[in-house]
Amino acid sequence: MPVPALLLPSPVEVLDDERLGAAGVRLLLKRDDLIHPDLPGNKWRKLRYNLEAAKAAGASRLLTFGGAYSNHIRAVAAAGALCGFDTVGVIRGEAYDPLNPSLQLAVDRGMRLTYLDRQTYRRKLDPDVVAGLRREFGDFYLVPEGGSNALAVRGCAELVGEIAEDFDVICCGVGTGGTLAGIAAGLKPGQRAIGFSSLKGGEFLSDDVAALQREALGEVTANWEIETGYHFGGYAKSTPELAAFIGDFETLHGLRLDWVYVAKMMYGIYDLVAQGRFDAGTKLVAVITGPDFRA
Ligand SMILES: Cc1ncc(COP(=O)(O)O)c(C=O)c1O
Repeated sequence: MPVPALLLPSPVEVLDDERLGAAGVRLLLKRDDLIHPDLPGNKWRKLRYNLEAAKAAGASRLLTFGGAYSNHIRAVAAAGALCGFDTVGVIRGEAYDPLNPSLQLAVDRGMRLTYLDRQTYRRKLDPDVVAGLRREFGDFYLVPEGGSNALAVRGCAELVGEIAEDFDVICCGVGTGGTLAGIAAGLKPGQRAIGFSSLKGGEFLSDDVAALQREALGEVTANWEIETGYHFGGYAKSTPELAAFIGDFETLHGLRLDWVYVAKMMYGIYDLVAQGRFDAGTKLVAVITGPDFRA
């Protein structure tokens, strides 16, 4: 399988910020957003072993699911183009005409799109729906929505081993939970992971992370938790407070944070530091799981 040129291990940078320094907290940024322009962050990590499994199974086509603005849909289209697979994207809801920029990018990378009404989309993994897709598109390797499965967990676990410096707590955004499940699986004893849900009502995500770990590892690790209070209205929602935080952060550090996941995590980290949740001397890592796609 052709492998794209990737910036791996991704860089680790120290973030100098007096709000953190005053609390005695050291924060490192794991710059996964820089891994590849079309396969940044958790996208490559989640897809890597799925692509290998698809090749090993002799598949020439990938099919996956997502919303009309899904970064995952775009990433699968790019992975297919880079690694030699046809791709099909099954989009939730009505057809777009014209395509939005995100779907246009996927089509530009060779992806064929099809749409499922919301009711059918909810049953997308039922055998009759999958069989219908096979009739329409031919055989395929199925990558789940968000790319999160046991192979994705394995890929995300590798992130931790790339961080040479010792740390206590590692933080990431949570959408489907695959990234957190993997990162937590890769930790050493004594280290902890905190996921920040970008979904409203994200309490159910703990069950999803546990299920993914069970599938991948045969057990659930006790070293992670999910903060559910930093969703800012829910998935792909924002508030003036979050927008101001993103603006301040960019002014101070020259890095524009992705507002769907990364900024919510970063806001949460600063807030937990301000609340005194971390003892002085704590070393934190924040995973920059993607660039600001939707600026
Ligand atoms: C930039 C970014 N960060 C975090 C996440 C959350 O990852 P997960 O769905 O594995 O919880 C996503 C979604 O894949 C994402 O695009």
